[in-house]
Amino acid sequence: MLPVPLRPVRFPFNLKTQSTLMNNWTRKEFLQKTAIGGSAALFAGSRVYGQTAPAKGSANGDIRVAVAGLRAQGKGHMLDHATKLPGSRLVAICDPDSAVLAARKADCEKVGVKPATYGDYRKLLESKEVDAVVIASPNHLHSLQTIWALQAGKDVYVEKPLSHNVWEGRQAVDAARKYSKNIVQAGTQNRSSEDIIDAIEFVKSGKIGKILWARGLCYKMRESIGRTSGAQKVPDSLDYDQWTGPADLTPPRRNSPSNGTVHYDWHWFWNYGGGDITNQGIHQMDVARWFLGEKGLPSSVMSFGGRFGYQDDAETPNTLVSVFGYKSAPLIFEVRGLPMKAGMRAMDKYLGTDVGVVVQCENGYVTIGSNGGALVYGNDKKVIQRFAKNTLGQHRANFVKAVKSRQVVHGLIEECHYSSALCHLGNVSYLLGKEKTNKDLAEAVKADKNTQESLNRTLEHLKANNVDTDASKTVVGPMLQIDGKSEMFVGSDQAVVAAANKNPLLKRAGRGAYAIPVTKA
Ligand SMILES: NC(=O)c1ccc[n+]([C@@H]2O[C@H](COP(=O)([O-])OP(=O)(O)OC[C@H]3O[C@@H](n4cnc5c(N)ncnc54)[C@H](O)[C@@H]3O)[C@@H](O)[C@H]2O)c1
Repeated sequence: MLPVPLRPVRFPFNLKTQSTLMNNWTRKEFLQKTAIGGSAALFAGSRVYGQTAPAKGSANGDIRVAVAGLRAQGKGHMLDHATKLPGSRLVAICDPDSAVLAARKADCEKVGVKPATYGDYRKLLESKEVDAVVIASPNHLHSLQTIWALQAGKDVYVEKPLSHNVWEGRQAVDAARKYSKNIVQAGTQNRSSEDIIDAIEFVKSGKIGKILWARGLCYKMRESIGRTSGAQKVPDSLDYDQWTGPADLTPPRRNSPSNGTVHYDWHWFWNYGGGDITNQGIHQMDVARWFLGEKGLPSSVMSFGGRFGYQDDAETPNTLVSVFGYKSAPLIFEVRGLPMKAGMRAMDKYLGTDVGVVVQCENGYVTIGSNGGALVYGNDKKVIQRFAKNTLGQHRANFVKAVKSRQVVHGLIEECHYSSALCHLGNVSYLLGKEKTNKDLAEAVKADKNTQESLNRTLEHLKANNVDTDASKTVVGPMLQIDGKSEMFVGSDQAVVAAANKNPLLKRAGRGAYAIPVTKA
């Protein structure tokens, strides 16, 4: 791990902008920004890129932002940069689906903004009128589009996860280090939650003892996407080659009423996404790892789960437990896409949390909700402390600050890489798994009481959804060993190690013009 570079931070923008910026930053943020504050330890060991690069921007000091990928998440980014975020100006939008692009152009016109429009991201990057790009395309494009943007001299906000696979995420981190005149902020937005920062400090103070384990939870309803009879038609409005990018070029095999044949439901196909652990789950994975203070990959991973309750086109599990072996304490991640009980819409909660994180310490525990707020409980389940500043929504504004100050404080690319990689590693164990009886599954996890506890609750949850796990068996993955330095699987079972290292979620080099550039810093 590289140390935080302590080069002096230059303020190349004009004095008016600088003082406005200083006024907008809290003292704590400013101290973190300049890496001299007491809280700097929170970020110690993190790489900070682009500290001394000159600020760019239009004559009035606004940064000129382009948003790529506009259907859902990108629309929010687009409108925020068009109308809400001080110091930022939306100058361009990009989407290879001309229908989406036209709709967003019209949305911009409604708020009096006329950005340039691009169907090809590479053309957008050629524009000298763009300082920074926000990448809100599907996951499988994130690393490539980040690297291309850095090569083109743009600052980047890249949505989570950073990558489709571990290796390409590392290439993006290496590119950020090489092209360090530009900054990259990752969309793991919990990093902007002061409540989480404060709760981590609270735990670190030792007031509730040492961390025993951290559980990330993604209990979020995911319904069947239905079943098609085979290859489906790509919409005429979409340039499918660009949409596919570095993924394998295959016809879509899905067609849901809300998303059609291509958009959004790619999350449930391995060629593009990784299921809900990589979709919603990465946010909670990131927070759980952050609490552990672990800045790297774990030494082991093991997963079990399945796609239960319905049969549809999708490939990824809707129920998954992944256990990561970290030195400090285990990180357990649980995904549930089925409700509390068959026929209901409400989701289970674990210690009051459905989409969130629970950090169990010796004398109490912390829960983080999906809004980034934190509660500390004693082991008697009484609240000891509340953190509720609710600053998670500041992540986009923090990007504007990062571009102006030339330093990322919230959402470092390497942190997002590790959290994204955890999701991929969990999925690789699952993908190498075999269907097992409940008895064999219980045997496989008997050495670890935390995993056993997750298993027992998972089986109860499936039973409540009328899933007969004796008939639809659970897929149980092998316990895989990981070498943190090479970010590859290692171990004595050569066949398993070779299969794990060949899995595209560990490494995929890309496709033709969309090969992932390999950057050595
Ligand atoms: N931070 C969060 O809380 C949050 C929430 C939702 C989504 N996201 C992330 O945002 C991303 C987009 O999610 P979504 O729900 O809008 O997905 P979506 O599939 O609905 O939309 C993606 C859009 O990207 C476009 N696109 C595809 N290839 C492109 C390319 N080469 N260049 C530019 N645009 C391209 C598509 O045409 C589509 O319009 C995902 O990576 C998702 O994980 C983050």
